[in-house]
Parts: sequence; structure tokens; C-alpha cells
Amino acid sequence: MTTEANSKSEEGHDPFFDHVPERRGTHSLKWDKYQDPYVLPFWVADMDFRSPPEVIEAVKQAGAFGNFGYGKPSPKLVDTVIQRMQERYDWTIEPSWIVWLPGMVCAFNLALRTHGQPGDEVLSAVPVYPPFLTAPANFEQKLVKVPLILDGERWTLDFDALEEAVTARCKTLLFCHPHNPVGTVFTREELQRLADFCLRHDILVCSDEIHCEMILDEDSKHYPLASINPEIADRTITLMAPSKTFNLPGFGCSFAIISNSELRARYKKARAGIVPDPPAMGLTLAEVVYLHGEPWRKRLMNYLRSNRELAYERLNEMPGLQAFRNAATYLTWIDARKLEVENPCRFFEKHGVGLSDGSDFGTPGYLRLNLGCTRSLLEEGLDRMEAAVNSL
Ligand SMILES: Cc1ncc(COP(=O)(O)O)c(C=O)c1O
Repeated sequence: MTTEANSKSEEGHDPFFDHVPERRGTHSLKWDKYQDPYVLPFWVADMDFRSPPEVIEAVKQAGAFGNFGYGKPSPKLVDTVIQRMQERYDWTIEPSWIVWLPGMVCAFNLALRTHGQPGDEVLSAVPVYPPFLTAPANFEQKLVKVPLILDGERWTLDFDALEEAVTARCKTLLFCHPHNPVGTVFTREELQRLADFCLRHDILVCSDEIHCEMILDEDSKHYPLASINPEIADRTITLMAPSKTFNLPGFGCSFAIISNSELRARYKKARAGIVPDPPAMGLTLAEVVYLHGEPWRKRLMNYLRSNRELAYERLNEMPGLQAFRNAATYLTWIDARKLEVENPCRFFEKHGVGLSDGSDFGTPGYLRLNLGCTRSLLEEGLDRMEAAVNSL
């Protein structure tokens, strides 16, 4: 990283992450959503920070090179992914298990297309990332929502409810791990139990692990579901991507890991002619961040951890709100059902704070706050929320 990026940070600050480009007016999905320029955006999961300096340099070099033809994953990129799985998760994978894709949403839609038939049921633990809720209907399958439960202050899977909900028509579980929006990192024991459940009921799992490198709690660890045992690996499509961690969603690069060769062949067949390979630049940048992005990622985690603590403390001081400490992701989930307003999302928007609406995740009355912004923007957002609550 550059000198600026390497200079020492004081608590809650870091010169690299404190300074971001002005995104308003750049056709940014996040910043150009609201007609009223007073509204600050804390909704969609993209961060305001510049990507690692090595990414910016690689984009400059590609521009200077000037040719933008098709690309393919380099052997180095494939090796890096394999090594990453081994080092981080003690998970041994093979090159042929990796299927490169231009995004995660298409990747889990493909999983449903691969496995189920019209009329089949798809389990998902809610609240959850909105495209999980709409994916089953794309293939005339039926979503079966199983509510997450609170264990103290931590949201987790309700295994009794899963057992009650499952029928012979349940063919697939769409699993978000770590979980968006509640930020839970599932433990090895929970994953073991989930694996047993899926084996017992002959269910295929599509495990969306896009947030797996964004663990904020230092005592939590990510375990890919498929690394738990060979039996669950055999029926799991694991999805990962550098896009959330390194803020590259605009470059469309993700990958599925499928150890079961028959399942992998069906998955590839389901994508044929419909879902293209990732763009060349997406592959190049995946290699760049996996090889060189770790110092940046560590500093980002420190910055986000401070943002999380600030949001957690301040939101929980506001009457009517309960915020949950996200163990992973840069998204804080908030219960606003005790706030005496009809629509909490619209209420805060009127007071200049654009949040995600819990209704979109399957649970009205909740809100999601994106912490992937400068400390000063977060402070301004929290000040506005406090003033809004105090105005009631
Ligand atoms: C759990 C989860 N999956 C997928 C995505 C989106 O992935 P993509 O933009 O690659 O389709 C997000 C984005 O926030 C997400 O949180």
C-alpha cells in the first residue's frame, strides 16, 4: 500500500479510509438513488472506499494497454484460490471444482435451475438478502421461509423450525453464510447440525459465502459449509467472490466450488448459453487482490470494526431501536418495531438517512445500515437518526 495508506491510524480513523471520492452524480447506484440530495445513502451493500492501491494501478495499466478482449482465469489465479481455501479454511479443493461466474445472484439462481423442478420447495432462513426471496419463483419453485431466532443478542438458525418446515418437496436450501443482513458467523457445531439436517432430508445446499472474508469478531472463524465433511460437500454448491471484501462489485467476478462432478456438470449445463464468463478485468483484479490485498483488507476490518462499535453503541441509546452487533459483514441490522412510526425506513429517509427496508428482507419493521463509509459520514447519519428519534 502507499505511504498514505500505511501511516498510523488513531482510534476509529485511518487516512486511507477517511478520504473517499465524491460519488454523488457519478451514476452510482448507492449515491444517486435519492432525488433529495440531503439524503445520505446507507443502503445497498457497496462501500464508499477506494479499492486497494494495487487495484487502481492494475486498472491504470489495463487502460494504458488499451485492448479489452476476452480473458480467461490465469493458472496463477486458480492456484491462488486453491491456496486460499487451504490456508484459511484447511479445505483442499481441486482446480476442476471451480466454475467462474460474473456474479453471485446469477450463481445462486443457476443452482435452483440446476437442481429443482417447478413446484419444488426452497428453504431459506429469513430475514435474508432480498434476491434469495425472489429466486425460487424464477423457476416456478416455492420459497419456504424459516425465521432465524435470537439467542441472546445473536441471530441463529432455528433447527426445530427447519424440521417443522421441511417437506418431501424441499429440494434446496439457499444458505447465506456469513449471514446478510444479521451478520452471523455460523459456528462449526451449527454447520455440522445443518449438514446433518440436509443429509437426512436429501437437500442440496447453495451456500452463498460472499461475506466470508469480512469477519469482524476476532474470536469468530469462517468454515465453508462444504469443508465440514465430504458428505455435505457432495451436495453443496459453494459461492465466493472478492467483490464484497475488496469493493469490486462493478467488475463482476465470482466463482462456484462444486466437488461433486455430476452436480458440477449439471450446473455448467444450466449456465450454458445464458450466463457468460466473468469479464477479463474482473479476473485480473481477483488475482491482484488475492495476491496483494491482505494488508488493505486487515486495515479495512479495523476501520469497519470501529464503525460497527460506534453504530452499535449509538443506535442502542436511541429509544425504540435495537441494533445487533454484526460479527461479520459491514451491515448492521436494527429492530425498529418499537419506534412509534408507521414505516421506519420512510421516516428516517425524511430525516436525511437512506437505509435498507427490512420488508425487502422478509421482515417489516427492521432496518439495515451500511457501515462501509467514512467515520464522519457515519457520525452524520447517526446524528440525524438521533435527532429524528428525538423529534417523536
Ligand atoms: C449474500 C449476498 N449475495 C450476493 C450479493 C450480490 O452479489 P453479486 O453482485 O455478485 O450478484 C450480495 C450483495 O450484497 C450479498 O450480500
